[in-house]
Amino acid sequence: MPATMMSIAIALFPAVASSTGPAPSAQEGKQHFIRCAACHSTNAADRSATGPHLNGIVGRAAASLPHFAYASELRGQDFKWSPARLDAFLESPRTTHPGMCPTFNGLAKAEHRAALIAYLQQPAD
Ligand code: HEC
Repeated sequence: MPATMMSIAIALFPAVASSTGPAPSAQEGKQHFIRCAACHSTNAADRSATGPHLNGIVGRAAASLPHFAYASELRGQDFKWSPARLDAFLESPRTTHPGMCPTFNGLAKAEHRAALIAYLQQPAD
């Protein structure tokens, strides 16, 4: 990762970066996306997946894709998927958003969550 991107990553995830050492890597995060790929695409044009596409999910308003028929408690909620929100969800999906992503039980390690969020910000990497 180039030095400038490294400092961006550290700026975005200060708590995680300082508690775990190395900054999260989108490359590594791609491996964790395997847990999501059965139901989610990172391609905005892909509408065949079970779940809503996750292109631009970091900073996106919850349940905001007009073409996707949201079914869970997410509907009608007014928040954006900030890195902190995503981190809380990824750590404990059953308590933060019960029923939203069936079969996903959470990523226990903070550095794995940070890497996945870094990947979601830059899925092309
Ligand atoms: C078994 C299928 C499945 C898996 C695996 C899964 N999800 Fe989901 N996810 C869904 C479905 C379905 C929804 C839409 C829920 C609804 O209808 O309200 C969703 C919704 C979401 C949303 C909200 C999107 C929005 O537009 O507000 C996020 C964020 C999300 N998932 C992230 C993830 C991530 C990250 C992973 C992997 C760590 C993951 N999901 C794994 C099925 C899944």
